[in-house]
Amino acid sequence: MSDFGTAPLSPPLGSEAGFGRLRTGIADLGRGPSRAAPDPADTAHLVRIRDLVYQVAGIFQADSRLNFLSERCERRMKATGAGSLRDYYQSLTTSTNRTQELHQLLNEITIGETYFFRNEPQLSAFRQVVVPQLVHLKSRLPFVNLKIWSAGCSTGEEPYTLAMLLLEEANASMRGHRFEIVATDLNERSLEKARVGVYDDYAVRNLPNSLRDKYLRPSNGRYEVVEAVKKKVSFSRCNLADDARMVFMKAMDIIFCCNVLIYFDLASKRRVVQHFYSNLLPGGYLFMGSAESLFQVDDSFRLVHFPGTTAYWKPTAAQASGGKK
Ligand SMILES: C[S@@+](CC[C@H](N)C(=O)[O-])C[C@H]1O[C@@H](n2cnc3c(N)ncnc32)[C@H](O)[C@@H]1O
Repeated sequence: MSDFGTAPLSPPLGSEAGFGRLRTGIADLGRGPSRAAPDPADTAHLVRIRDLVYQVAGIFQADSRLNFLSERCERRMKATGAGSLRDYYQSLTTSTNRTQELHQLLNEITIGETYFFRNEPQLSAFRQVVVPQLVHLKSRLPFVNLKIWSAGCSTGEEPYTLAMLLLEEANASMRGHRFEIVATDLNERSLEKARVGVYDDYAVRNLPNSLRDKYLRPSNGRYEVVEAVKKKVSFSRCNLADDARMVFMKAMDIIFCCNVLIYFDLASKRRVVQHFYSNLLPGGYLFMGSAESLFQVDDSFRLVHFPGTTAYWKPTAAQASGGKK
């Protein structure tokens, strides 16, 4: 599926992501000791690139981030030989390899900060409450297979952490049951790193030693995820703003989408969350980052409190009509 499936080639200026909100950003562009005054044609094309990124990936570059976008475009302009932002915009919209170039730009602008065992209260809620509850809910089926989606998995630390925790439950709540973790991101470079599964000290700093010793093995001064964990996780590219792709992410029991939607504006956040609601099976859970909430974004989910953390829950039909979990 092409990213252009969700983006008109000439994004409308003056749209939600359009000119009106950009005036300060444009004025700021070119400030700083080494920069000449910006060429108005360049700033207009930077605005168009910002609109394109918003429409394709849902990521809104606030005015304060226009210099960041400009710098990332310059990197790609060097790589592609584009002489100006106007030329670069053409290569993003009318060239034969525009989809690939757009992916390259998205690789440059997405931020992938992550590490193993990032949010301990959330992981405890996942392991101690949510997994046993969902296993119980599915226990009337011929076999239990939990399907978990790490949406915006960056370089893989989050889905690998979840796999480790479920493997730890092999003789407890997960005894005799199966699980699979679908891990997706927009950034192809991050996904490549995730598949390799080799990490430095920084990435593992929060991981309890017992898990580190069991599920990572030393590899040239770094750590490699062992095969038993790797094979539980499949990585693929999925743009959360691509409606056509999102409808295929079906029958999930649990979705983790942590520290991803902070880059989205309200309209694109709403769309993604509505997809998550449809993607989840009744009784399923959505976990978000510790600084994120669905307050005023979506009221289909029910907020559930756990010690030190919260999650969003999709009731089963019976639970919804009974009003209880
Ligand atoms: C800060 S990382 C979060 C990683 C991990 N979930 C965590 O909490 O540690 C944000 C990730 O969201 C991804 N992302 C941003 N926009 C996206 C989109 N439209 N579709 C899919 N992934 C996206 C970025 O590429 C990046 O890897």
